[in-house]
Amino acid sequence: MTQVKLDVIQDHFGAQLNDLFGIFFEDLNHAADGGLYAEMIQNRSFEFEPVDHEGYHETYAWTINHSDQAVISTDQPLNSNNLHYLAVDSGEDGITMTNHGFNQGMFVQKDHTYLFSMFASAKEKSVVQVFLENSQHQQLSPTAVIAVNVPGWKRYQTTIKASQGNAEGRLVVKVLPDSHINLDMISLFPTDTFHHRENGVRRDLGEALAAMHPKFMRFPGGCLVHDGTLDPDDRGSMYRWKNTIGPIEKRPTRRNKWDYNQTLGLGYYEYFQLAEDLGAKPLPVLPGGYDPHHNRKVPIDQLQPWIDDALDLIEFANGDTDTKWGKKRAELGHPKPFGMEYLAIGNEEVGQAFFDRYPYFHKAIRERYPNIKLINTSGPFSSGGEFDRGWRSARENGSDFVDEHYYASPEWFLANVNRYDSYPTTGPKAFVGEYATKGNNWYNALTEACYMTGLERNADKVGLACYAPLFCNIGYPDWKPDLIYFNQTSVCKSVNYDVQKMFMKYQGTDNVYFKVKGMAAPDVKDPAVINGGFGFSSDHSVVQLSNIRLTELDTGVVKKFKNITIDNEESQKLGKTSSSHYEIDFNAVKVGGNPTKGFKLNFGDSDSSKSSYSWLMGGTDNGDSMIYNNNAHGGSVWDQHAWHLPNKEACHFKIEVNRRHVKTWINQVEFNRIEILPTKISPMYLNVTYDRNSHQYYLKVINITDDTQQLSIPSAIFKDGTLLSLIGKRLSHNEIDKASVITIDKKKVLKKQIEVAPYSANVLVSRYMDVDLKK
Ligand code: AHR
Repeated sequence: MTQVKLDVIQDHFGAQLNDLFGIFFEDLNHAADGGLYAEMIQNRSFEFEPVDHEGYHETYAWTINHSDQAVISTDQPLNSNNLHYLAVDSGEDGITMTNHGFNQGMFVQKDHTYLFSMFASAKEKSVVQVFLENSQHQQLSPTAVIAVNVPGWKRYQTTIKASQGNAEGRLVVKVLPDSHINLDMISLFPTDTFHHRENGVRRDLGEALAAMHPKFMRFPGGCLVHDGTLDPDDRGSMYRWKNTIGPIEKRPTRRNKWDYNQTLGLGYYEYFQLAEDLGAKPLPVLPGGYDPHHNRKVPIDQLQPWIDDALDLIEFANGDTDTKWGKKRAELGHPKPFGMEYLAIGNEEVGQAFFDRYPYFHKAIRERYPNIKLINTSGPFSSGGEFDRGWRSARENGSDFVDEHYYASPEWFLANVNRYDSYPTTGPKAFVGEYATKGNNWYNALTEACYMTGLERNADKVGLACYAPLFCNIGYPDWKPDLIYFNQTSVCKSVNYDVQKMFMKYQGTDNVYFKVKGMAAPDVKDPAVINGGFGFSSDHSVVQLSNIRLTELDTGVVKKFKNITIDNEESQKLGKTSSSHYEIDFNAVKVGGNPTKGFKLNFGDSDSSKSSYSWLMGGTDNGDSMIYNNNAHGGSVWDQHAWHLPNKEACHFKIEVNRRHVKTWINQVEFNRIEILPTKISPMYLNVTYDRNSHQYYLKVINITDDTQQLSIPSAIFKDGTLLSLIGKRLSHNEIDKASVITIDKKKVLKKQIEVAPYSANVLVSRYMDVDLKK
């Protein structure tokens, strides 16, 4: 085995890493309600409706024994945002209402104290008993008694201490006989929240975040932010921050984009508070007056309230307490500013409508708050027309960052480890606001680690990066993979989490120059040329194809193929080529099928390669022309352009493949243009940083091969350092309530050489070392 030698130029520092690695919180997979937000009651204000989720109703998650004596009313609501309440006439027997919480029930812990509260009104004396029980109706706590004799709405609260624990607990509210009472906002919180915040977050989940040491927290979405109507008072409105602050009983309930009810109990004040508790800088994302999912747009002459939302948010976060919104923050309990530095307008926007609006936000914010770093957006894919449009807008407007998103296979990530090497060092920086390989196996996590060494190395071009999504309640998955899974009792940190934690905890402040000698050339996993079989597949469309022609540009051979029609999910193979430079052109007309679907030209189907390639015309709700490839680990979009496959209108299509360069034209207009990079596996992936706070050097080394790698290290820096290794099996992954599959190894480094275990992510932490930073 070759000896690889690392030389580090000890006092030669490169780009600063600043706030490079952070987290991204979005309320999907019940990440907020039923997740991080510690509220244990599901449907506390009787506002669940089928519009939020099929099967919801106003007493969803509640069992009421005499339901004819406890009815939903809106006659005298608590307030105009909280219309439904339970009107109880308990009769001779009284009534019993039980809330089942989320998942299998509430996690009741012995000797823990819970804060019960409710809003109630009663013309005559009414008595309510409250206690916890298990699913077999065995009581888990003493009974608390609340007497209500006030005709107007009033908040009542009491604490309940659990005398027994149970993972499937319920809250029981008994209204004693002969009571006439209205009830709303029935809430139960553990008092032991993360940092003991009222209306706070679950301790175990908060601690999982804190252990990563994120430098920033992006929130509250994602598509959650921009999917919705334009009217902030609509139940289905976009995420408007002003709806999410103040007394929780006054916050409106909302349909969550991810198909459930959103109480907004975890709102902007709580997010800022959480970021502060985590030591992470808050990075809010605001909608830009445009919903790309439904093509809703605010007329430009009506944009001012949206711009004001952005300006007011900055004042809310940072303003003095004598400003309108700074005062509001102080009234909520935080006179000190939150110190917000970053603000994103829009989330992976597609379409010119966003970019017509962005400059108005940008200009107004820059003028009033020149120090706020503004983040523009570049769509959901790593390359193509929408991506370029976002970057163009960022350059034209002078945005500080461009938010890039991509979810792709481990192979895509390995092929793109050097993606940012060629980015410019001037102009906006990249913010990799959402990325993940498509899986939670150790190999996925390791390839993410390899990629992160590339992000670190290019910290002069990449300013911020966060894995997505963060949380998933395993009872309510909308999107996988995620970083942290949980149910009501347990937290399961994925193996990807271990990697994120390593990179955040040992990020460092400065890159350090290093040289590597003796590293073997990477193992190239894909052929140099994409060729082989080709044909067509329908994606639930009926498409007639004619004049199909293969032109081999290197040999001059032209082959013609018979006309075909494809339907439903049908695939037809047409021919083969061994040419390294060829074109396929054809006419196509969609004559039927699903209007939101298109069709594919499959190409590069070779027996030797485990990858297949497609040009999808009419992808993503018939809005895209995209080039992607599939392999055993999932699909990766390499290039995307906005385009719509018209109905009953013939178009001419052409694709040119030159080795691994692919170009497409529709009606003679160029659309996609991309080099599909081959997957390469290096023996090791490395980067070196220094941390001005801990005065230590960090060497990250990732090995995704089957072999132990030997690395000779500069002993002047790393002698007596500590090597921390995360070691696992390629396909292993963590499961809830089971021990982690990752071995954590920690050893003192006494020699000039370290052994880097197969399938391991490592950080070598030097001893305390002072460096002359003025050099
Ligand atoms: O992270 C999940 C989703 O992926 C986000 O909401 C969206 O921005 C992206 O498409």
